[in-house]
Amino acid sequence: MKQGKILGIETSCDETAASVVFFKEKNIKILSNVINSQVKIHKKYGGVFPELAAREHLINILPVIDKALIDAGIGRKNVAREVSLISFAGSPGLITSLLIGSVTANVLACTWGIEFKEVDHVESHICANFFNKQRIEKIEFPAIALTVSGGHTSLVYMKSFGKFEVIGTTLDDAAGEAFDKAAKMLDLGYPGGPVISKMAESLKKKTEIVLPRPMENSKDFNFSFSGLKTSLFYKLQKDLLWEKRKKEYSWAVEDAITDILLKKTFKAVQKFKAKSVLLSGGVSANYVLRDKFDIFFKKEEIPVYYPPLELCTDNAVMVAIRAGLFN
Ligand code: KG4
Ligand code: ZN
Repeated sequence: MKQGKILGIETSCDETAASVVFFKEKNIKILSNVINSQVKIHKKYGGVFPELAAREHLINILPVIDKALIDAGIGRKNVAREVSLISFAGSPGLITSLLIGSVTANVLACTWGIEFKEVDHVESHICANFFNKQRIEKIEFPAIALTVSGGHTSLVYMKSFGKFEVIGTTLDDAAGEAFDKAAKMLDLGYPGGPVISKMAESLKKKTEIVLPRPMENSKDFNFSFSGLKTSLFYKLQKDLLWEKRKKEYSWAVEDAITDILLKKTFKAVQKFKAKSVLLSGGVSANYVLRDKFDIFFKKEEIPVYYPPLELCTDNAVMVAIRAGLFN
């Protein structure tokens, strides 16, 4: 485990983020966590517009890093002395967005004479689970980690501390993307996850609307969400009253997505005899998902971990933690 102050940089999608995390023995302290979200810019497209995202990163990256250093109490002149490592998130992500973080981290590290390191974006999401009120969370291995966000849906097998093996991924849309596209069809705005969840929560009586659970029973650990989207599209086309039933459709979308995620994760837990389940990524902020996992795995006596809400969506704290915890 690395010691000292680590600067993390994250630009994989539409958040420009920088953070300083202090590692001292077995303690982790977040000294700063700056996030510049581009949600307002991409809202009108109902999803992230890659070219615009990269241009925004270019404008914001240096001010965001500057603020993270100032918030952490590190003066510009003291960076080389105080920061022991600069880490940045590499793939997966939008290549034009990732490039901005990568080039900036490389140039700053060379200028200041500091070591730098690229870390995997999904592994970074998973590592947000190791932060527990300034201590490193004691997680029992083997573990199964489900990372669900707008860009990725991955099941990762962690045989031991620091060993990551991707065992399943989405064959088409990511889970968050399925929420976002469903919200677009239902004319609910962007990002879709939180708004669908809010609509579903306010549904007073049960609905008979059921959406398919694609690949739920497939033999592998992969996912597919495009069939769910297509099914919703045709159901809405046939339903003249769909605008009055947005809460019901939202509930059905959330129910289907969270069911698929639970079923596939359990399958992996059984196969790999996992002792812990780790959730991460933007969709892990979803309370229905958290509840379903909590209730189900409680019966199996397997603990479920998820990061604090502010560390679920893209951030640079997780990048610094990934870089500090594992080589
Ligand atoms: O991790 P993240 O910030 O970015 C990516 O790496 O993609 O995740 C953003 C995604 C969006 O698709 C958004 O709709 C989804 O996370 N999301 C949610 C919730 N909050 C954010 N999905 C379901 N329920 C939520 N509460
Ligand atoms: Zn992400």
